[in-house]
Amino acid sequence: MANNGNMPKRVTVVEVGPRDGLQNEQGVIPTEAKIAFIDMLSAAGFAVVEATSFVSPKAIPQLADASEVMAGITRRPGTRYTVLVPNAKGMERALAAKVDEVAVFTGASETFVQHNIRTSIAGSITNFRPVVEMARQAGIRVRGYISTAFGCPYEGAVAPEAVARVARELVALGVDELSIGDTIGVATPNQVGDVVSALQDVTSLDRLAMHFHDTRGTALANVLVALELGITIFDSSSGGLGGCPYAPGASGNLATEDLLYLLHGMGIETGVDLDAVVAASRYLAGVRGMAPASRYYAAATATS
Ligand code: HMG
Ligand code: MG
Repeated sequence: MANNGNMPKRVTVVEVGPRDGLQNEQGVIPTEAKIAFIDMLSAAGFAVVEATSFVSPKAIPQLADASEVMAGITRRPGTRYTVLVPNAKGMERALAAKVDEVAVFTGASETFVQHNIRTSIAGSITNFRPVVEMARQAGIRVRGYISTAFGCPYEGAVAPEAVARVARELVALGVDELSIGDTIGVATPNQVGDVVSALQDVTSLDRLAMHFHDTRGTALANVLVALELGITIFDSSSGGLGGCPYAPGASGNLATEDLLYLLHGMGIETGVDLDAVVAASRYLAGVRGMAPASRYYAAATATS
């Protein structure tokens, strides 16, 4: 169906599989396989690939090879390579690896933030101050993630105003873009409306990304509502990889294949080649010995 005019004509898909997906692996994925996976995603045409995390290797041993991964990938002109950074130490490592963008990450609920980054929300903002300053000096962009924006595994319901409060702090710090995370995949479409409306006075819609997880099957419905509200940046992971080690019950991110199928079918451009994403997922599925969770992937590979 052609774009009916009420929807954006173009959307940016931020591919987070190599980071959000691989941070949660039980087994070890060899560094060369991560590099090959990222190179396949770059070739698929993503404008943004979140490649890895410069966090404590004790917290996330799965991504302890972040420097090697960044040194090994082939950088495609037109793709921005972004990484997670929790503090100044991570920022030094990220700058040494010549990343294009960093993402700081906090949350809308205190207990989750404490488990995830071992500090309070206020403490996380303090830790991000030097990170944002270093990014400014290096001339690179900063994303700011707000996790548990629709619900917390420890505290339950989260008020949209709690999300707006953290968002104001991140915007005051100078982040370029906010990514609003449904970390445990509990959001329903009406909540998306409530959160976006709480954020309307905080930042412009073109600086807001939605980061949905598909734990309860509501991610695409949430995307549709967000599109109608004017959101044009969506995070997803190829094959539906992912979860958060500090969010019990958090299954995969919204699968990139499923998101692309919806967007392209609605006449919304992304610049990403869906078949090439399926090929990247197929490659990684072979490495992991596990079928991807994406429904589009299952349909596309059923007879091949
Ligand atoms: P801490 O233990 O309080 O930190 O952890 P610390 O400063 O006391 O340092 C402890 C040790 O870690 C020290 O080493 C530091 O040098 C080292 P030691 O002296 O013991 O040998 N260290 C580091 N090493 C390398 N790089 C660094 C770094 N920082 C400290 N950057 C800390 C606090 C924040 C560092 C830790 O808890 C951490 O790294 N957490 C990251 C957790 C994480 O990555 N979680 C998953 C990502 S968030 C997510 O998935 C949600 C999202 O997808 C959106 C959504 O879905 O909602 C983004
Ligand atoms: Mg996530």
